[in-house]
Amino acid sequence: MKNIDSITHVSGTSVYLDDVPVINGTLYGAAFGSPCAHGVISELILDDALQLPEVVRIFTAADIPGHNEIGGIIKDEPLLADTHVHFCGMPIAFVVARSREAARAAVKKIRVKITSLPVITDPREAQAKGELIVPPRTFRLGNTDSAWEQCAYVITGNADINGQEHLYIETQGAYAIPQENNSLRIYSSTQGPTAVQRAVSGIIGQPMHRFEVIVTRLGGGFGGKEDQANTWAALCALAAWRLNKPVKYALHRMEDMAMTGKRHPYAADFKIGLDKDLKILAYEASFFQNAGASADLSPAVLARTLFHCTNSYYIPHVTATGWSCRTNLPPNTAFRGFGGPQGMFVIEAAIAKAAHVLQVDAALIQRRNLIRSGQPFPYGQIAESEAPLCWEKLEERFDITEQQRKVKQFNENNSLFKKGIALMPVCFGISFTNTLMNNARSLVHVYSDGSVGISTGAVEMGQGVNTKILQVAAQVFSIPADKVRLHHTSTNTIANTSPSAASATADLNGKATLIACTAIVERLKQLAAVTFAVTPADITLVNGHVLVNGLPSAWDWYQLVTTAFAKRICLSEHGHYATPQIHYDAVNEKGHPFAYHVYGTAMLEATVDCIRGTYTIDAVKVVHDFGNSMNTDIDRGQIEGGIVQGIGWMTMEEVLYDRDGKLRSNALSTYKVPDIYAAPATIAIEALQTDRDNLAVFRSKAVGEPPLMYGIGAWFALQNAVRAFHPNADIPFVTPMTPEKVLMALYSTTNPETNHPHAETVS
Ligand code: GUN
Ligand code: MOS
Repeated sequence: MKNIDSITHVSGTSVYLDDVPVINGTLYGAAFGSPCAHGVISELILDDALQLPEVVRIFTAADIPGHNEIGGIIKDEPLLADTHVHFCGMPIAFVVARSREAARAAVKKIRVKITSLPVITDPREAQAKGELIVPPRTFRLGNTDSAWEQCAYVITGNADINGQEHLYIETQGAYAIPQENNSLRIYSSTQGPTAVQRAVSGIIGQPMHRFEVIVTRLGGGFGGKEDQANTWAALCALAAWRLNKPVKYALHRMEDMAMTGKRHPYAADFKIGLDKDLKILAYEASFFQNAGASADLSPAVLARTLFHCTNSYYIPHVTATGWSCRTNLPPNTAFRGFGGPQGMFVIEAAIAKAAHVLQVDAALIQRRNLIRSGQPFPYGQIAESEAPLCWEKLEERFDITEQQRKVKQFNENNSLFKKGIALMPVCFGISFTNTLMNNARSLVHVYSDGSVGISTGAVEMGQGVNTKILQVAAQVFSIPADKVRLHHTSTNTIANTSPSAASATADLNGKATLIACTAIVERLKQLAAVTFAVTPADITLVNGHVLVNGLPSAWDWYQLVTTAFAKRICLSEHGHYATPQIHYDAVNEKGHPFAYHVYGTAMLEATVDCIRGTYTIDAVKVVHDFGNSMNTDIDRGQIEGGIVQGIGWMTMEEVLYDRDGKLRSNALSTYKVPDIYAAPATIAIEALQTDRDNLAVFRSKAVGEPPLMYGIGAWFALQNAVRAFHPNADIPFVTPMTPEKVLMALYSTTNPETNHPHAETVS
């Protein structure tokens, strides 16, 4: 089935926040952000701005009727800076004017006097100074201390992983419209309608039931709107509440880039020990997460880093510690993979360094250490592993050995172009790591004409979740897809939702929909059974017909529904699903946090121009564990998009803050993302069709985040291409691997063993 949004997308009629028809009298907001990364506000001068004719009012912290607090996990984040500023772009004031242009013009006329304080942008420096968001966490398996002496080889090193700008095509925004009796309707471009509702309720100081949050769809989220849509909705709500007027704010791209957090940069140290047969016996890692100025989702992101620190490998002795370090950058936040990719990069770096020191192919080490069913992850969950199978199928389908031979041959015959190849296994845990978040609800109405309307807590953001939910209903009712419609997401209809995140949205909301539809079908079957004097088990619904003992009856779906309605049988159901079997003990760092894991393995090939340092990522060939895919077109789209986004993170996307904490890569002229020319010419995807019961809907598997991590292989393919030119090139584990870095490495003279921490790197 096609994505139900494809026609409106290509015809330009899909509705995003900025397409919601504007009500007469609507005012426009714009935030004034701190020009300085850390300091004390001594004076805020609004006079010039207030004098502009169209300016209605300028709000500051003093105007907040509730609590000036939007922190989620930790209450450490004011909506508007009051006395201190903690990052460049931190909102200090919110201008409301009669036009967008006037609001922006007024922002430019605001002046602020700030006594500056020392700025920290480096997580290691923050950690050394004790600037931590939460106490460190350590995951332990076995005993690394005693394991080192059993190792034939012990290799240490470090890595610096940069962040990533979400660059959703639709920027952040909100539109708050006063309703009667002190309530607000808020349209928000958010992945978390309930999070917005909660934040607004706290800011206004009124119960959540006064605030309805509505989302039709997003032009992308990628995690950037899991928590950070709250700010703009709360600002608009504050102004709408105080002025009793509709207030709208859709951010300019440069405002969005400067004011919102990104994927977390991490610094990391690693130590890896192997035996003579290249079995990894021990692994230690320290992760220094650059959290930015307040917690946001950083502690949860850090947890996912630790959960994924051994990627697809079984290592009997592991000690991994994570520090969430407070710096003077915009609070970094969720981004597809949620800390997992950073954890995976570090173990891949450790393996790559071991391979280089031992002069073996990294793929040999990777393959030898893939986790098998029955082996534990460091957090205690026992693997039901598809990792070896994915690798074997990749070998069989895409012939790794032959590809390696071709690359070697190419490199022998070319001196100015070199190719590199890398394998990238991925293992990603599915479920919110915070167990209580793993629940969802779906409200299903069968209308009296037989058409079906569904509301869930899922937010459609291009990932196709609505299509999958529609498929669930159409399948359970056995009616054509055009009889089913997905309604927009609203907190009035579905309450207390977890954000659409963690790759789990279709699983959770799909299951809730399955439960609701099944309950309605049970009632309808009961009715048919009475009518045809059989038992409900004798009734089946097939292609819109009611079958009795497998034979056509006089009834179709329409007659079934209209009869039920005439007999006053309820044609609606609110389904609730909470993932069973998951639990986690955060004191001992042991449990079974994930409903299941998604596995896959990719082979990536790159070509480097050894004069210029420029390169292409030529091919990505993947065996991916789809489970029993509900929609192969959508899932392929997710995989291709994820791969390209992952490659972008690893290669060309360079988030650059200067030492004063100012974002230098603040526009698309200075921040490069992959375009169609940078995308690999070949992305070949082979399904590993597994049919295990996996706690997802119809034995499908989550598909959102895992494929991004195949992109990590691009870094290592480039490393290998550079090494084909200069075997002892110094290639520090610093991302992204921009053409500039490739060029430096191609002509580097440094001893590869020293592996300098590169102070020049960003953030
Ligand atoms: N996004 C990806 N994984 C997670 C998770 O575990 N928790 C939350 N809140 N968001 C996520
Ligand atoms: Mo989360 S990175 O919004 O799935």
